[in-house]
Amino acid sequence: MEVNKLYQGDCLPFLESLPSESVDALITDPPYASGGLHIGARQASTTSKYMQTSTKRGFHDFAGDHRDQRSHLRWSMMWLSECWRILKPGAPVCLFSDWRQLPTTTDALQAAGFSWRGIAVWDKTEGTRPVVGRFRAQCEYIVWGSKGNMPLDRGVGVLPGAIRQVVKTADKHHITGKPVEVMRQVNRICVPSGIILDPFAGSGSTLVAAEMDGYQWIGCELSPHYRDVANARLQALKPAHAAAVSHESTLDR
Ligand SMILES: C[S@@+](CC[C@H](N)C(=O)[O-])C[C@H]1O[C@@H](n2cnc3c(N)ncnc32)[C@H](O)[C@@H]1O
Repeated sequence: MEVNKLYQGDCLPFLESLPSESVDALITDPPYASGGLHIGARQASTTSKYMQTSTKRGFHDFAGDHRDQRSHLRWSMMWLSECWRILKPGAPVCLFSDWRQLPTTTDALQAAGFSWRGIAVWDKTEGTRPVVGRFRAQCEYIVWGSKGNMPLDRGVGVLPGAIRQVVKTADKHHITGKPVEVMRQVNRICVPSGIILDPFAGSGSTLVAAEMDGYQWIGCELSPHYRDVANARLQALKPAHAAAVSHESTLDR
């Protein structure tokens, strides 16, 4: 299996091509198929579902976000079952979800064979849109679990149950892009220098965070546009990395 590589295409055949028990963590942000209670609203473009007019910045739409509730559950079970085969025993899994899809996400995780262990919170802060008489939709969720028993002595420290991180314009490269700082916190569930799998890489935030912190990674993204965005971000890290390594080797001498 070639690591530190981003594949472009449908994740199902990609996942089927990966060897069993070869990956140390699944950390991914799949399409939520959310943003509407009715089938008509689900079919709307992702920019119109997930972006306020004031923040639209010419982001490209993405596919896979149109399924109704039953097909979303069935499809999630299909790719999660394949991930179960690929993960090493005891490996952690983290799935992003919004409030609407929390029940479906926790059902799919368990139906695919994983042990559900909890939910961490990404608090997007008071920067999110206020609505009078309503609770702010201020949080997204990280449903997490493991492939069977997850030993305590994996070389991983205590992790936060809530990550408070605002979305910064300069750090947003996708309609539903996650901040790199959030992904750095989430990736810490993986054993040090282990292989992190993200089959829905989008603009590559999981992979960028993995590269920054010395993990190996393997990703897949359906959209050629977002594959290019992710590869450009990963390439941009390279000079900084080379400088850091040469600085370390100077210090070693
Ligand atoms: C929620 S976004 C991921 C955003 C990412 N976390 C980021 O920070 O940029 C989900 C991504 O999954 C991709 N996708 C949808 N269906 C897919 C499939 N069948 N195989 C692979 N990627 C898919 C979409 O193109 C979209 O970019």
